[in-house]
Amino acid sequence: MASKKRAIERAFRAIISRSRSNSSSSTTSSLRSSSASPSSLFTITRRNVSSTSSSTSSTTATASESSSSPLVKNFDVYRWSPEAPKDSKDSKPHYQSYSVDLNDCGPMMLDVLLKIKDEQDHSLSFRRSCREGICGSCAMNINGVNTLACLSKVEKSTAAETTKVAPLPHMFVVRDLVVDMSNFYAQYKSIKPWLIRDDEEETKASGRENLQSKEDREKLDGLYECILCACCSTSCPSYWWNSDKYLGPAVLLQAYRWIIDSRDWKKKDRLIQVNDAFKLYRCHTIMNCTKVCPKGLNPAKAIAKIKTMVK
Ligand code: SF4
Ligand code: SF4
Ligand code: FES
Repeated sequence: MASKKRAIERAFRAIISRSRSNSSSSTTSSLRSSSASPSSLFTITRRNVSSTSSSTSSTTATASESSSSPLVKNFDVYRWSPEAPKDSKDSKPHYQSYSVDLNDCGPMMLDVLLKIKDEQDHSLSFRRSCREGICGSCAMNINGVNTLACLSKVEKSTAAETTKVAPLPHMFVVRDLVVDMSNFYAQYKSIKPWLIRDDEEETKASGRENLQSKEDREKLDGLYECILCACCSTSCPSYWWNSDKYLGPAVLLQAYRWIIDSRDWKKKDRLIQVNDAFKLYRCHTIMNCTKVCPKGLNPAKAIAKIKTMVK
């Protein structure tokens, strides 16, 4: 009985062993049928890897070709802070040098200053708002010329030269490139830069508009575009020496803009107000103002027109 049992067990193991052997060979054959041979599988895999790596390296090559090498330019920027500790470097006016890679920076002078402030020196102070020549707040002196930093392009061809950046000349400095505009704004306010009419109440009550002919409106072209940046006034030698009394080209251009506005009723009063040896006649037609205006306006011409009107 026992020998019969052993014989059955042997036969059973043999069957199991045969079936394992068959199943293993069928797995191998199915693998081969799908992909020819293990070596071709390996080849395919390698080709994929190499094609991926070649596409990666070609991407890298393209990227390195497009990102040009650094083009470093030096900028000497005026620094002074009233809050700096006594005897420290910043307690006295001086120029500080900054190096900026022009290939990793926006194209305008304002971009350079923002990059310096963001990445190198958070304490650097300057005014800016619109970054498109509308607000007039980024006016400063760049390489000896008053202009708007946001409209001033940093030419890559000048990378080897140092660019000097200073506050508007002959103005009191509040800090770094920020100047005190109080006197300028007070002078602007003095010319009453708004429409003055005796029928204001009636106009308001009736909801009527103050209309103007097309021709009269066109007379304001070249005047209304002034953004009060003060580039012109601070480039005028007469304004440098007499800014407390002489109104300067920007404010006189604005005065003229209201004098000739057909909707305004106070032309005569306005002319009387500016007809003064200092307020108006400090202009000696040197023309610096017109030369620097970043908006392409002609304050000297406006002043000349006022002079002919007051005679
Ligand atoms: S033209 Fe008159 S306002 Fe203009 S810069 Fe010369 S002096 Fe100044
Ligand atoms: S006239 Fe030109 S330079 Fe002068 S304040 Fe106006 S926009 Fe600036
Ligand atoms: S930032 Fe407004 S004029 Fe330059």
